[in-house]
Amino acid sequence: MEIVAIVGSLRKESYNLKIAKFIKDRYKDKLNIEILIPDLPIFNEDIEKDPPVEVIDFKEKIKNAEGVLIVSPEYNHSIPGGLKNALDWCSRGDRVLAKKPVFIVGASNGNVGTARSQMDLRTVLNSPGLNAFVLPSNLVLIPNVQTLFNEKDEFVDERTIKYLDKVVDNFIDWRMKMS
Ligand SMILES: Cc1cc2nc3c(=O)[nH]c(=O)nc-3n(C[C@H](O)[C@H](O)[C@H](O)COP(=O)(O)O)c2cc1C
Repeated sequence: MEIVAIVGSLRKESYNLKIAKFIKDRYKDKLNIEILIPDLPIFNEDIEKDPPVEVIDFKEKIKNAEGVLIVSPEYNHSIPGGLKNALDWCSRGDRVLAKKPVFIVGASNGNVGTARSQMDLRTVLNSPGLNAFVLPSNLVLIPNVQTLFNEKDEFVDERTIKYLDKVVDNFIDWRMKMS
């Protein structure tokens, strides 16, 4: 299944990026994942009819994917601005997330592992402009992420890995029932 993974952090050493890479590698027999880091110009209605080339490319990749994974930290109890901006672009013109199957993973160094931002993310994805189909339940919350990598910088949290195994299978089953 062709999937794009949108990472909500632009940071080079982002834990969420590392987890996206972990997911890409661990489930490579089931999902072919292309990782996107949306460092896009700020959405502006004045330019939406003639958007920047990065926006066109980003939306095209989502359009062609069979599903989308969002892997994002929480910023100030909500969605990081860069990710929200990318979603705003997707909500206009060619609405590439409409009816697109999506699942969500989030890691933070706080104790609630992006719970608040994931609730906001689900609300935004459910808006009429986006109208994405988000895998119900299956909340992958990864708290205290800075403690979950070994000295080789490998993600080693068995509890999350076991749960991810289930969530990926749940996503695939649910996605298959849709088509
Ligand atoms: C602007 C900003 C706001 C943050 N707000 C939160 C927050 O609300 N909740 C939380 O658990 N962590 C918060 N953090 C800490 C992040 O969880 C931590 O920096 C994490 O490593 C970011 O993800 P990344 O490693 O993928 O870049 C915040 C970090 C930044 C830079």
